[in-house]
Amino acid sequence: MIEIKAVILSGGKGTRLRPITHTSAKQLVPVANKPILFYGIEAIRDAGITEIGIVVGDTASEIRAAVGDGGKFGVRTTYIQQEAPLGLAHAVKISKDFVGKDRFVVYLGDNLITDGVAGFVKQFEANAPNCQILLAHVPNPQSFGVAELDGDRVVRLVEKPKEPKSDLALVGVYMFDESVFEAADAIEPSGRDELEITDAIQYLIEKGRDVRYQIITGWWKDTGKLQDMLEANRMILGRLETRIDGEIDAKTQVDGQVVVGKGCRVENSILRGPLIIGENSTIVNAYVGPFTSINYNCEIRGSEVEHSIILEDSRIVDVGGRIESSLVGKNVVIEKHSRRPRAYKFMVGDYSRIELE
Ligand code: G1P
Repeated sequence: MIEIKAVILSGGKGTRLRPITHTSAKQLVPVANKPILFYGIEAIRDAGITEIGIVVGDTASEIRAAVGDGGKFGVRTTYIQQEAPLGLAHAVKISKDFVGKDRFVVYLGDNLITDGVAGFVKQFEANAPNCQILLAHVPNPQSFGVAELDGDRVVRLVEKPKEPKSDLALVGVYMFDESVFEAADAIEPSGRDELEITDAIQYLIEKGRDVRYQIITGWWKDTGKLQDMLEANRMILGRLETRIDGEIDAKTQVDGQVVVGKGCRVENSILRGPLIIGENSTIVNAYVGPFTSINYNCEIRGSEVEHSIILEDSRIVDVGGRIESSLVGKNVVIEKHSRRPRAYKFMVGDYSRIELE
């Protein structure tokens, strides 16, 4: 039996999600209260792969703390330290010892594929090409690696082309045999000074290796930006089933799919799903609207929140108006007060964004 391994890339700076990523790895930002990275680990496990290398960068300790030895997912993890974010192909390169002679899946830790990858991995095992890529039709191909096809052949791959030749983006899941290591050694850094995985695959194409593709029709997202996070959150919340473990008083109205964690207290509020509220949170005189994830130990009081992600230990109190399409970090306080002078007062981190009505 051929063993297939997986390498999940969890380095990167997450600049497009600052300030959240000043203090937290982008792969650990939760979608429906679960870190994005965990969905990737589960997708790989569900494809029958149990040996997972995780390439980590500056946020190594946080990722290790969250994932551990993989036991809770039913996998075994090996951490591979990347000294600097020198590109996806560089991350693959430093995984060589872990991979050995095995075939492997490379999975970008900020990608979310709701239908998993089991079918694609099966195809890869059956056909045993040198490389198999996944493509998806997107409206903004210039933000991705883009593929040019000729029938069932991949003719060319270009990283973030200004004038894309197709609308087929490279999804952040790639499958390789050991020939990718030769490719990663041969290519030069790109304009953004990174060894691009796209260029490594282009090298394999030029050398006449067997590079195959599959087009993904299910939902896929690269969650680099706030809008993508909110969209991913919407997608996952839409699949939840109602489960109420906390206490909800008689004056509260609950509509749609709503998950309320243990130790929560909800009083005189409206919960309109799909939404999730983590453990030990308090919702009082509030409205929590569709597509909202509130993490654990939060307090929403006298306020309205919709289409947002609120991380743990945060409080939104007496805001009055509605907060929407927002990502609120950990331990944040947003509160209306009646003291004079009446003014907006902020203590806001670097690269924060505030929009006032
Ligand atoms: C990376 C790849 C790109 C691919 C994308 C998928 O982009 O370089 O080819 O389409 O992931 O998520 P990055 O997130 O590094 O901008």
